Amino acid sequence: MKEVFLGSDHAGFHVKKKVKEFLDKKKIPYHDLGPYQEEKHDDYPDYAFKVAQKVAKDKEAKGILVCGTGVGMTIAANKVPGIRAVAAYDSYSAKMSREDNDANILGLRGRNFPLKKIESIILIWLNTKFSKKSRHERRIQKIARYERR
Ligand code: RB5
Repeated sequence: MKEVFLGSDHAGFHVKKKVKEFLDKKKIPYHDLGPYQEEKHDDYPDYAFKVAQKVAKDKEAKGILVCGTGVGMTIAANKVPGIRAVAAYDSYSAKMSREDNDANILGLRGRNFPLKKIESIILIWLNTKFSKKSRHERRIQKIARYERR
């Protein structure tokens, strides 16, 4: 598996640490793009853009972003052309976002969310392939064309 780009804000910092321990355990390589220490007043778009820009450069690349809800990170990452970021709270959204939408960034909720659930969402998301069904390709192409307009 290719290395996964990671980022968080202060609200996701401690969960990102746990995510790294989990990825180590599963022998999944990653590259943490920060922050490297807890910064109480940092802003999630700064790290979302860092990760999204790396992921957008490579069709096979993936990223995982953690903030309080996973939502702000996802909104910001989706502003970068080529990014299809999902805030997944359950295994179904994690699986379908890969199969149907070829999501390339996973936004995770760092506050008040069980770590076991996060771990299972990560595994499902990383291990599910895009179906490449023509209707899904067509829809993704429509989004890409809209971005380029
Ligand atoms: C930060 O307090 C919080 O707003 C942020 O981590 C995130 O949840 C935004 O969507």
